[in-house]
Formats: sequence, C-alpha cells, structure tokens
Amino acid sequence: MLTSAARRLEGKVALITGGASGIGEATAKLFTRHGARVMIADVQDDKGRALCESLGSSVASYVHCDMTDESHVRDAVDAAVSRHGKLDIMFNNAGIIGSPCMQILKSEKADFERVVGINLVGSYLGTKHAARVMIPARRGSIVMTASVASVDPAMTPVAYTCSKHAVLGLMRSAAVELGQFGVRVNCVSPYALATPLAATAFGMGGEELEDFMHEHAILKGVRLKAEDIAEAVLFLGSEEAKYVSGLNLLVDGGFTTANPSHGLFKYSDV
Ligand SMILES: NC(=O)c1ccc[n+]([C@@H]2O[C@H](COP(=O)([O-])OP(=O)(O)OC[C@H]3O[C@@H](n4cnc5c(N)ncnc54)[C@H](O)[C@@H]3O)[C@@H](O)[C@H]2O)c1
Repeated sequence: MLTSAARRLEGKVALITGGASGIGEATAKLFTRHGARVMIADVQDDKGRALCESLGSSVASYVHCDMTDESHVRDAVDAAVSRHGKLDIMFNNAGIIGSPCMQILKSEKADFERVVGINLVGSYLGTKHAARVMIPARRGSIVMTASVASVDPAMTPVAYTCSKHAVLGLMRSAAVELGQFGVRVNCVSPYALATPLAATAFGMGGEELEDFMHEHAILKGVRLKAEDIAEAVLFLGSEEAKYVSGLNLLVDGGFTTANPSHGLFKYSDV
C-alpha cells in the first residue's frame, strides 16, 4: 500500500481503452495503486468486469466500448465524467495486430482496414471525445500506445506499421492543437512484450516470447513487462510530466536507436 504522499495520481480520473488485458490491465492496476479512479473500456466484457471487481468497485468500473464505433467512445467518455465528475487522463491503448502475415502481396484490404480502424481511428475517436471534455476543463493528459513500429517498420506487418506511424502523427497533431487548452498529448512506444496481441504476432507467448525478444534486444539482462509500460504511462499522466507534450516515449531499451542487424558493437571477447 502506497502512502498518500507517494500516490502520484491521487484524485485523478482515467479512462483506459483496451484495459481488460495486457498493457491496459497493468496500467489500470498501477493507476489505482496511485490513487486514481479508472474506467476500463474494452470489448472483452467478462475480463474487464472481473478486473474491476478485483480492483474494487469504488475505484474501477467497466464500460463496453468498441473503439470503431464513435457512439461507444462518446458514451464511454461521458460515463467516466458522469460517474466521477471529470476526465484527467485518457489512455488510448486498445489495439490489434491483425493478420501476422509479413508479405504485402498476401495481405488483405479488409485486414488492413480493420487494423487501421481500431489502432488509428479508435485512437482518433478517443482523442476527439477526450478533448471535448478536457478543453472546457483547461487541463488533461492524453496518452496513446503506439509501438516501436511507429518508427521502425522491420518487425511488424504493413497494416500495423502504418497504423502506428499514423498514431504518432495523430499524437503530434493533437499535441500542437490542444496545448493552447492546457491539454498534453503523448505516446508510449513499447518494444515487444508478452501479451495476447504479441502472441498472435509472433506465434509464441510467455517466457518463450520473452526469451526470443531478449535475443533480438539491444538492452540485455532484463525482460520488458507490461508493468514497465504502465510505469511510463503513469509518468505521462502525472504532474511530474506537466510540461511534457508531443513526446513519443520509446520504452525499447535502445532498440530503435540502432539497426541491431548490423551488430557492429558486439563484443566477442567479453
Ligand atoms: N505487446 C506488445 O508487444 C506491444 C508492443 C508495442 C505496442 N503494443 C500496443 O499495446 C496496446 C495494447 O496491446 P497489448 O499488447 O496489451 O495486447 P492485449 O491483446 O493484451 O490488449 C489489447 C486490448 O485491446 C482490446 N481491443 C481490441 N480491439 C478492441 C476494440 N475494437 N475496442 C476496444 N478494445 C479493443 C482487446 O480486447 C484487449 O483487451 C496495443 O495498442 C498494441 O498495439 C503492444
């Protein structure tokens, strides 16, 4: 249990999309530990409700929300405001990988549109409706989960890469526009970590996936976890980041800093 002085989101209200699983779930847990009240928006109703029950009904509630449907997103934002009186943090995190096929010739237009529809259009709708309530309040923090795929196209299928590059553009556009109202907008961009989404992408999960990603990582001796991404989101949502806007916070252990396939810095004698 954190002391009230240590709680970095005391009194804040957050809406977390894709909050029933993976990064969203870890963020909901961390946010409530830090004194926030959270509304979890997802399409996995049983998982989302079970998570809220485990966190406690006074601090966590669930709303069914398909990010491709504007009326769902609008209603989720309104539900957070009517229940808690305000919205301080919008975490646009819901996403899918789509087909894991890495070949454009074998890719399907319908899959491309589905991935873009959830990852990009969903984040756009979340940003739009969060801005609707944050602009009059003259404050707020919007965080979007992009990915290393927002800057590096090598690891993910074309639809996913395009959607995450575009999320970066959405974040930058919104940061510039909403800054005049005191609303900050940032991205968090993880390297791969073991969640159901990554299991679909890489055809493996759990420790096997962690070991595989560790092998390809720049930073050795540590495995990236959903909780590490939640810590970055906590920072971006908190007052510690009060002058941080327009940032793509890469939580990738330096992966996108270099092309790891070059291996130029590999020590053979240590
Ligand atoms: N796991 C990784 O390696 C990794 C790396 C970089 C970025 N990301 C991003 O992190 C975010 C979270 O993914 P995760 O890895 O925690 O995966 P996850 O599968 O555990 O969680 C994704 C959540 O989004 C929800 N979702 C999917 N479609 C939705 C829709 N239409 N409406 C509402 N919710 C929907 C799912 O039900 C699920 O709960 C995604 O945006 C993903 O692109 C993940």
